[in-house]
Amino acid sequence: MKEFIPKPLPFTQTVETTKVLKKTISANRALARLNGVAKIIPNQAILINSLVLQEAKDSSEIENIITTHDELYRASLNIADVTNEAKEVQNYSSALLKGYGLVTENKLLLKKYIVEIQEELEQNSAGVRKQSGTNLKNAHTGEVIFTPPQEYETLQNLLSNLEKFINEPNDVDPLINMAIIHYQFETIHPFYDGNGRTGRIINILYLILQGLLDIPILYLSRYIIQNKSDYYRLLQEVRTEGKLEEWILYMLDGVEQTALETIELVESIYGLMQETASILKERLPKIYSKDLIEILFMHPYTKIDFLVTRLSITRKTASSYLKQIEDLELLGSIKIGRSKYFINKELFKLLHKGI
Ligand SMILES: Nc1ncnc2c1ncn2[C@@H]1O[C@H](COP(=O)(O)OP(=O)(O)OP(=O)(O)O)[C@@H](O)[C@H]1O
Ligand SMILES: [Mg+2]
Repeated sequence: MKEFIPKPLPFTQTVETTKVLKKTISANRALARLNGVAKIIPNQAILINSLVLQEAKDSSEIENIITTHDELYRASLNIADVTNEAKEVQNYSSALLKGYGLVTENKLLLKKYIVEIQEELEQNSAGVRKQSGTNLKNAHTGEVIFTPPQEYETLQNLLSNLEKFINEPNDVDPLINMAIIHYQFETIHPFYDGNGRTGRIINILYLILQGLLDIPILYLSRYIIQNKSDYYRLLQEVRTEGKLEEWILYMLDGVEQTALETIELVESIYGLMQETASILKERLPKIYSKDLIEILFMHPYTKIDFLVTRLSITRKTASSYLKQIEDLELLGSIKIGRSKYFINKELFKLLHKGI
């Protein structure tokens, strides 16, 4: 099959159609509300942590890397004996956080950062494809759907063009740009593997770069899983039929739906934090503190060490605190190897239910 070389950006065809503009308004409104609501959580790391893990799980699932919440939480705490799948999901989460660090620090999303993100994700340094032979196949029939550009130089030129489009201002709505960037990136398909996952990380980093979100909390992977055949079909129809409008509408709808669902999740986490705080204040007033609540919500698994470090208390005291909270049935405990871990059961349930 002949390779398909995408046109460089910006596209000449009109992207701001009436339908698209209308959807842009509601999607932006939902996103802005999410950005505001997130601030009710006292420590933003709580949201970043839990949502990044959730996204790592969902995004990897698109690639058929399946793990459980439990394995995932263990992997993120470096608890031994995790499965390869959980390790891969963990790599996704560190790639995402690496990208978030690079973008907030440099206020740019450069080609070289994209390569770094993909290398972190795949844990190798293959970089941009140098050998030809990469095709996109239908997962069921094995039939080749499209052949991305093959020449190293073509890939580099297209990536430079994309870099310019990402970082230089234009007057199109950033959410529309995000949809275009995702299409273009997946069509360039610059790596041997991990293009889908890297492309999904670019989406969230672009929203941060554009100032639409202050922290990385809007992830489309769950929406994509639920609408997966549309995802593949619409991407492909941009290539074959130039149907850009449908693709953009699909992505805008994803932003809107996901923002609304994430608002609910943030509110539930907040509600649970308040409930936990009021129980501790009433039943264990001597050990209650805001910091303690934050530790219990920073991660679904809590360790004695977390309290020792954050509250500057001895291991013995920390262990007694956790035991007392466990007695109130706010925490469950398990022993893995020689260490004891405490699980925030209600938070676990909330995240398990997902957004
Ligand atoms: N049938 C298809 N039609 C259009 N685009 C496709 C099709 N199959 C895959 N793609 C694009 O290629 C990506 C997969 O490429 P690759 O395997 O390099 O990425 P990945 O991150 O390993 O996988 P995944 O996206 O499944 O998690 C998809 O996410 C999608 O964007
Ligand atoms: Mg793959």
